[in-house]
Amino acid sequence: MLIDSHAHLDMEDFERDREDVLKRAVEAGVEHIVTIGIDLKSSLKARHLARTYARISSSVGCHPHHADDCMASDLERLAVLASEPEVVAWGEIGLDQYRRYSSADAQLRVFRDQLRLADDLHLPVVIHIREAHDVAYPILKGMGKGEKKGVIHCSSGDMDLAVAYMALGYFISIPGTVTYKNAIQIKEVAASIPLGRMLIETDSPYLAPVPQRGKRNEPAYVRDTAMEIARLRKTPFEEVARQTTENARVLFGLPIQGEIGEDAGPSR
Ligand code: NI
Repeated sequence: MLIDSHAHLDMEDFERDREDVLKRAVEAGVEHIVTIGIDLKSSLKARHLARTYARISSSVGCHPHHADDCMASDLERLAVLASEPEVVAWGEIGLDQYRRYSSADAQLRVFRDQLRLADDLHLPVVIHIREAHDVAYPILKGMGKGEKKGVIHCSSGDMDLAVAYMALGYFISIPGTVTYKNAIQIKEVAASIPLGRMLIETDSPYLAPVPQRGKRNEPAYVRDTAMEIARLRKTPFEEVARQTTENARVLFGLPIQGEIGEDAGPSR
């Protein structure tokens, strides 16, 4: 079985066929999906999906792209949402100096505030960092030991960064881009880090893995990512699937398969 640790199922892209997407995920062996909030509106919808479907859990949070619009009152509402049982993580949060959709000041403020809130609520964090590791790493290091840590949602990081974040206690999540021929760094990370520190994700609807590249991504395709990781590591696919599933369960406190119903339909 597989767990897609990072998808955006709340998005428009899934409005027409979300049930079919979930069915295909189950057929591909995906037992659970964590759908990720990027602002208040998306977090509310993510939580709603997690309430509706037994195989979905959600995070809540304000993405660095939306930091300029993230008000203190939004964070208060997110904190209330975060104490719901369907919410298993805070994120995605972080810093993005590549796109710079929000000001650096706002990104920094909102990132720090949310790290503190997640820590208070004992929730793991889902971290997005792009071209801002020099700022983000010392902040995460300064959070100290003992809290629930989280996962570095890894689209571009190199091996040295992966090692540094793992030393702080974070998991590294490998996305579908690992299947791209020219993705040398991410292939190296996927081949080298301990399987015990690895999660896998789609980041649906973005960045579909080969052979679906260019199409809308969906959780079923996390299987292609796991297969590529197995190939790179010369490990059986089943071992990659088993260990990354176990890691996601531990980090997010997810139910063990069998404790939830077999159908992919609404749970309540
Ligand atoms: Ni994402």
